[in-house]
Amino acid sequence: MNEDIQKEDNIRCLTLLGHFGFDCLPHQLMNKSVQQGFFFNILCVGETGIGKSTLIDTLFNTNLKDKKSSHFYPNVGLKIQTYELQESNIQLNLTVVKTVGYGDQINKEASYQPIVDYIDAQFESYLQEELKIKRSFVDYHDSRIHVCLYFISPTGHSLKSLDLLTMKNIDSKVNIIPLIAKADTISKNDLQKFKCKIMSELISNGIQIYQLPTDDEATMHVNTSMNGLLPFAVVGSMDEVKVGKRMVRGRQYPWGVLQVENEDHCDFVKLRDVLLYTNMEDLKEQTHTWHYERYRCSKLQKMGFTDVGPDNQPVSFQEIYEAKRQEFLDQCQREEEELKQKFMQRVKQKETAFKEAEKELQDKFEHLKRVQQKETMKLEEERRQLEEEIIDFYKMKAASGTLQTQGCTNIRKD
Ligand code: GTP
Repeated sequence: MNEDIQKEDNIRCLTLLGHFGFDCLPHQLMNKSVQQGFFFNILCVGETGIGKSTLIDTLFNTNLKDKKSSHFYPNVGLKIQTYELQESNIQLNLTVVKTVGYGDQINKEASYQPIVDYIDAQFESYLQEELKIKRSFVDYHDSRIHVCLYFISPTGHSLKSLDLLTMKNIDSKVNIIPLIAKADTISKNDLQKFKCKIMSELISNGIQIYQLPTDDEATMHVNTSMNGLLPFAVVGSMDEVKVGKRMVRGRQYPWGVLQVENEDHCDFVKLRDVLLYTNMEDLKEQTHTWHYERYRCSKLQKMGFTDVGPDNQPVSFQEIYEAKRQEFLDQCQREEEELKQKFMQRVKQKETAFKEAEKELQDKFEHLKRVQQKETMKLEEERRQLEEEIIDFYKMKAASGTLQTQGCTNIRKD
């Protein structure tokens, strides 16, 4: 115990006498991970026919390509394919998401939106799993994108505005590794200038691309030199070409063979090493600790969650829940009150309208009644006049009868 070192206030560093076995912990972790298998999700963004499928095939030595995409899609879409790959006893669940119709529309302003939506949707699905009461991460298919291979057209000139716009919109959501596609179509000198131009454009537009980590001694040197080589100039091919006595993968031209796996010819091997050999775990870690964390943070903040209150004191989940619940109840009450007010107002409006209509009807009725009374009086007057005329007629008739009788009597006397 004399050798025991007092490290901090109450932490002592003990020298163990014997073997206890916890030095096997890394092996336990490794065995568990191997049993579970690994997920790796790649997003390939690039114009139609730029060489996305060929590069993925070349990377994994597979033949995943089905058929060529059309150039006439009205919108940008995404094609998702999942594969199970096995190397030694390691199983890799590989998901490749490729853009379809990217760069083919006249108006390219919204071309990045389906890509952003897809990345966010994978974060959202992971967040939903995290928020579940019964979480099941053991058999959860983590579909969050770990790396975006951005295929730049080998124009040798500069980035297109579509490239800048898309990268600007996804750089906070995913690790971007820019690639100069079909690099065999550019001369060595032009390629170097093109690389410098691209990097300066990315910097001047404030676009963050994936920086290979340089804090680990084992990979520090190689990653530093790789960072200096970005964007990687890649060539893809599944063709086997004869070079000397060997068969190599490459592209045969009238003037010679471009060997895909020859580091003097292109950066394909460097890309493969970065992706699969040295930095796959870092890409996954960056996705989880930076990109997903940023999404989760902003989503929870939007939902009203916070770590500290206005008084800078920590706020518990229970307090937030209570506050949110109260806020919700208050809002419900406010809305109910508003609805009631609106209802009363409408009832009043209807009542007034009915009263007005009733008054109008009453006025009409009174008017018609008066007209009818006048008509009746007029008819009554006419009937009275007619009766008087009839009486006068009879009187006159009687008088003329009397006169006639008297006339006859006088004639007889004569
Ligand atoms: P879509 O999925 O249809 O959008 O195409 P894509 O981007 O997957 O391109 P694909 O891999 O189908 O390649 C299109 C054409 O380009 C094919 O004829 C390939 O042989 C050719 N190609 C692919 N990679 C390279 C390359 O590195 N250099 C050259 N010169 N041609 C290539």
